[in-house]
Parts: sequence; C-alpha cells; structure tokens
Amino acid sequence: MCGIVGYVGEDAALPVLMDGLSNLEYRGYDSAGVALVDDDVSVYKRSGEVDALRSALPAAENAPQTIGIGHTRWSTHGPPTDANAHPHTDESGRVAVVHNGIIENFETLREELGDRTFTSDTDTEVIPHLIAAELDGGATPQAAVQTAADRLAGSFAIVVAIAGVDELFAIRRDSPLVVGHGDGETYLASDVTAFLEETREVTYLEDDDMAVVGDDGVTIYRDGEPIIVETEQLEWEADAAEKGGFDHYMLKEIHEQPRALRQTLSGRFDIDAGTVDLDLDLEEAYLNSVEEIQIIACGTSNYAGRYAAELLESVTEVRTSVEVASEYEFDGGRDPWRTLVVAVTQSGETADTLSAVRKAKQAGARTLAVTNTLGSTVTREVDDSLFIRAGPEIGVAATKTFASQVATLSLFAVYLGRVRGSVSSAEATTVLESIRALPGAVQQILDDEDYIREVAEEHGDSNAFFFIGRRFGHPVSLEGALKLKEISYDHAEGFPAGELKHGPLALVTPETTVLAVVTEGSNADETLNNIKEVQARGATVIGAASAGDSTEYLDVQFSVPDIGLLEPLVTNVYWQLFAYYVAKSKGRNIDKPRNLAKSVTVE
Ligand code: F6R
Repeated sequence: MCGIVGYVGEDAALPVLMDGLSNLEYRGYDSAGVALVDDDVSVYKRSGEVDALRSALPAAENAPQTIGIGHTRWSTHGPPTDANAHPHTDESGRVAVVHNGIIENFETLREELGDRTFTSDTDTEVIPHLIAAELDGGATPQAAVQTAADRLAGSFAIVVAIAGVDELFAIRRDSPLVVGHGDGETYLASDVTAFLEETREVTYLEDDDMAVVGDDGVTIYRDGEPIIVETEQLEWEADAAEKGGFDHYMLKEIHEQPRALRQTLSGRFDIDAGTVDLDLDLEEAYLNSVEEIQIIACGTSNYAGRYAAELLESVTEVRTSVEVASEYEFDGGRDPWRTLVVAVTQSGETADTLSAVRKAKQAGARTLAVTNTLGSTVTREVDDSLFIRAGPEIGVAATKTFASQVATLSLFAVYLGRVRGSVSSAEATTVLESIRALPGAVQQILDDEDYIREVAEEHGDSNAFFFIGRRFGHPVSLEGALKLKEISYDHAEGFPAGELKHGPLALVTPETTVLAVVTEGSNADETLNNIKEVQARGATVIGAASAGDSTEYLDVQFSVPDIGLLEPLVTNVYWQLFAYYVAKSKGRNIDKPRNLAKSVTVE
C-alpha cells in the first residue's frame, strides 16, 4: 500500500524512478510523484495513475539529476488530489519526503510546528517540516532525519531528499523498505519489484534502521552506529514481474500457476515414504503438544486458510479454526502454550494480520507465517516461516498465491500428521499424490481457456452470481465470488451450498448465474439438491465436476481432472478465468481494480 522508490547512481534518476513507480503501481494508484535532487529539489506530482504524472515531467535533457525519490499513493489521509500526492516538502521546498504508512500523532506535531504553512491534508507533510526545523537549528542532514523520525508515532517507511545533499536518507518502522545494490548505483523501495530488472542483491532494513545512500553505496545505522550491511540474493527471475506477452498481470499469473506450484512443492516431499520435509524450526516435541491451530488471515489468504483448516483437521485431528485477522482476539480461555497460530499472508505486510500476530504473541502462543515474501515484516515477528515460493504477484487480485498457499498448507498438514502419528505412510501418500498432481491438473484447465471465455462472455451480464460448494468447495466458492466482485464489480457472493435455502435463495431469479463446485472433496451428491433448487427458480448453473462424473443436470459443465481432495482447488482456476473474462468483457481495470491496493498496510 503506497509504493516508494529512491535512486542514487550514475544515470539520470528520472527514468529509473518512473520504471520503479510503474512496477510498484499495484501498491496504489491514486496519485504519483517524484522529486529530483541537485542544489534544489524539483517536485513533479499528479493525482491519477503513474501515466498521468508523465505529462507533468520535464524533458529528459532537463532532468540530468542522478538522485531522486518517487511515490505511488493509495489514499489514507485526504483525497487523491495533486496537493495530497507525494513527495511532500517543507515550506522552503528544500526537504522532500515520500512515505508509506500512517503517522498517528501528525495532528499534535502540526500544532507544535506552529505557524508553518501546510498545503495538503496528509499526515506525511509534518515530516519534511520537522526535518527542516531541525536543519534550521543546525542539525546535520542525518541527525535531522533521525530526530524527526524519533518523534513519529505509527508505522512508516520514509525516504528523504534534501537540496544540496548528495545522499538519500531512509528509515522504517513496521512498514517495509528494501535496499537494492546495483553496480555503482543503489535503489531504495518498499518492494523489490521496483528494481528487480536492475539487481537482485538486496538488504532488508530492520525496524528503526537508518540507511544513508550516497555515490559509494549504502551505510546502515542501527542505534546511531554503522553496521555491516548483509545482502541477500533474490531467487526471483528478473522478468518475473513483467507481463510477458499477456494482456494483464492477472492473466499471466493465472497461467503461471503450474510453474508456481512446482516451485512450491519442489524438494519438499517423498511420495513413496509418505513424508514431508519443510525445514521448520518449530521443534517436533512442540508440534506434538499442540492442541489447537488458529489460522489468521485476510481476504484470499483467509480462504486459503479455510481450505487448509478442513485438511488439517482431517489429517492431523487437531482442532483448527480460521479467524479474519481484523477480528482476532486471543481469548476463549485457550492454552497459549498449546495453540499454534498460523498467519497466512502473501505479502507478509498486511496490517490486520500483523496486528493479530502481535496479539497471539503477547498471549504467549507460538506463531508460524505462511508467506510469499522473503524478508517481509511478518517473517521478522513470528517464531517460524514457511515460504510458498510462488514468485512475485503484481495483479491486485491474488491468483497463483492462493494455489500455492493451499499447496503449502496441505504439505504442512501432512507433515504435522506424520509428526503426530495421526496419518500412516500410506494415507500420507494418498494426499501427497493429490498434491503432486496439482500442476498438471491446473494446466488442463488452462488448456480449456477458450471455452471458459465463451461461457464468461455468454453469462457475464447476469444480475448476480452465487458461488456454492460444500466442504473444500466452500472456501473455493468464497474465493470465486471475491475474485469476480473485485475485478468485474458485479454482485457476487459465495455460500456453503446448504445455506442457500436459509435465506439467499430469496435473491435467486432467472437472471442469476450460480457457479457450483461438485467435484471430489465437495460432497457433490448433497449439493445436487441445491442445484435443483436454484434451477427451479430459473437460475443457470455452471458446475465444475470431476471428470467422468455424470453432469447432464448442469446447464454448463466444466470438467476437473480426477486428483482427489484437491479437485476444488483446481476448480478455482475455472472461477479465476471466468472472473477475468467477465471483467474483460466489461472493460474493467483488471490489474488495478477501483479502491483496492495490493498490500493493505493500514488497519
Ligand atoms: C484479493 C486479495 C486480498 C488479499 C488480502 C490479504 O484478491 O488479494 O483479499 O488476499 O488483502 O493480503 P495478504 O495475503 O498479502 O495478507
């Protein structure tokens, strides 16, 4: 949520910053801006997408500066106007700041700053004013930034540029910030996708670290002292964050699922022995003593958690609940020492999920993160992390990460079942066979894309879409409805199939399309009655059924390869493509749906 970029190097900064902002736009697209630094700070900013900013920029020959910062915004304080766009400056225009996060005490700070003139509604604007006040008092640039940051309450990642200073200053607290080490150039960003095409050698800043970036690279200060900079090599492909010939990132990422799943699974299980190796730090003795698992997550990750909870309970016999992270409290008299709290979060930066993790930790529970993002905030806070290895996901609507989350958690279920002795090697092998078949089965659905597009175009104008399913089919119905509503803006809801008759059936008319999961693992026989009920009210039913099952009762049939318990997960790929083509036929902004952003770093 909000993308930040900074550059110090030998090349002109402007094109580098604009490329970085384009790559980060999925984090927010209300407004964008850059500041270029030499003896002055030149700020260019606009409401609207990054493309709107281009019209405000100087010609290349007029922008020789080799130092600059940039920002793409998702509004929290103040509407998306030119004035509220970042970078923000002090009155004299010599200090420019880009910020991601929320400054909770900004009103108090504004009052303290007295008669200085503020030109925006944002919380951010106090920061350049605070820094300027310190500079006026004779502080060095680094000390001024540090003192200002010390006064801020809340979460922030900020990058500061100062006129006449050939360094950038960056500092974070509870909001991500990463340094990219290039050849004679250094990048700063809220997310590695900003500079993935330039370098894959990175350093993740810890909370309250200050990075000072100059011509000779970066120095990181912790508690005021320089520390040795440790770098990590990213394994992501340099082109992983590009569209690669697809019209949208979302479509590319839907198509990447077989490859992402192979990466997720690679080297993690032995099918013949029925064993799983996840390289976990949580000791087996502890895992044996767990009496309850609580999964905490938001949105799509929550639905992945619900899928996994069904599997965890059946494989491990450990009571498993799933909580919406923003509603989570560690209560109910449970024993913290015997409760494992699993945070599922693609980005690892979702504020609601991080806050839930902190509550669990405070209560004394052990915590495990299941995430796609190396070095993300969640990985620093939990006892152990499990990476889903799906590669970068740029489309705001999560697709491949849902599949990889469920696959990773399914492996975890088998792992835990084997540690606890609740599944035999033969039973584990059966689940693992279903997991192993996933990439091939997903590919078969992708091969059916033309047919799915035809179906989506034919039924896309329905008044409402209801997704129904039982057992593993239920979380997939919730996810199918979420995908459709967020990118097509149509009214879509997911229900447990049996619940329809307890209320939602009142909404069903001949203009309704119902999408039903009737594969293995979804109690299909029982859902049949619910399908008849909606058909009797004139609705059209699109159903995904196991290959070989009789499906004449469905108005439109999709066929899912026979792979067992994970067939509903494969069905989800039909729902993704259905949502994509309905949204496309309506000309929606698929990769950047209105009002949304990729990682939601505010509560
Ligand atoms: C929907 C979607 C969101 C995220 C949710 C949690 O397509 O992407 O619902 O799943 O915001 O995000 P993470 O997984 O990053 O915690």
